[in-house]
Amino acid sequence: MSVHTASRRVTTQVIRNMKAAGEKVAMLTAYDFTIARLLDAAGIDILLVGDSVGNVFSGYDTTLPVTVEQMIYHAQAVVRGTERALVIVDMPFLSFQINPEDALKNAGKIMKESGAGAVKLEGGEFVVPAIKKITEAGIPVMGHLGLTPQSIHQFGTYKVRAKEKAEADKLIIDAKALETAGCFAVVLEKVPAELAKKVTASISIPTIGIGAGTDCDGQVLVSYDMLGLFNDFHPRFVRRYAELGEQVDSAIKSYVKDVKDKNFPSKEESY
Ligand code: KIV
Repeated sequence: MSVHTASRRVTTQVIRNMKAAGEKVAMLTAYDFTIARLLDAAGIDILLVGDSVGNVFSGYDTTLPVTVEQMIYHAQAVVRGTERALVIVDMPFLSFQINPEDALKNAGKIMKESGAGAVKLEGGEFVVPAIKKITEAGIPVMGHLGLTPQSIHQFGTYKVRAKEKAEADKLIIDAKALETAGCFAVVLEKVPAELAKKVTASISIPTIGIGAGTDCDGQVLVSYDMLGLFNDFHPRFVRRYAELGEQVDSAIKSYVKDVKDKNFPSKEESY
């Protein structure tokens, strides 16, 4: 039996209760109305308007160019497409790192203009002042540790993080700091499964894993990856539940052929 039985929208409190009840949280990314509506109707708990929109929608190499205005535009479409899922919006690069006042201004703008239920931001102890400022204003915040794509130029690689003891110890300290600062949940991206298990056991807020093993309190994937629409990377943590890219390819080839062969439109498809 699910913690969330009502037809009302999932809240951050429901997500916290799911950890307490041992119910796993299912989360995916969404960037537009049509996909959001499909994922919502299929029963997803959380839709993340991720700044991965920069990669899979806009075609940038990294998430760094994404702006607050772009996040709001996509989040508005996702909110319009959902009735049940909690919608969380990523705070893009430099929208929360400069100072806590700026972070609150940007988080508030995102919440006011998109209608979403929470924001997510990357980083550990360094972002605690921003998280405190945002949560004290009544805005729920999801944290994000491990492979944080906004720091890709510092990491230099998309390889698994925190394999060494020092980085693993720091990640546990960061997770506890995010919990104390008021986060309602935290994403753990591309870290060893054993470490994610340890973090999950040591904090009371839910951990949502992406490439972080089975012991997290929930899982998240980029929808375009798991649906087989985005082929640029094939990380081993992505299970492809569909090959929509292949279906699109075959559909478009059939359409082009039909148009060229004058097989489309038919009489029935004409007025
Ligand atoms: O932007 C994004 O899609 C994310 C997920 C990978 C968690 O942050």
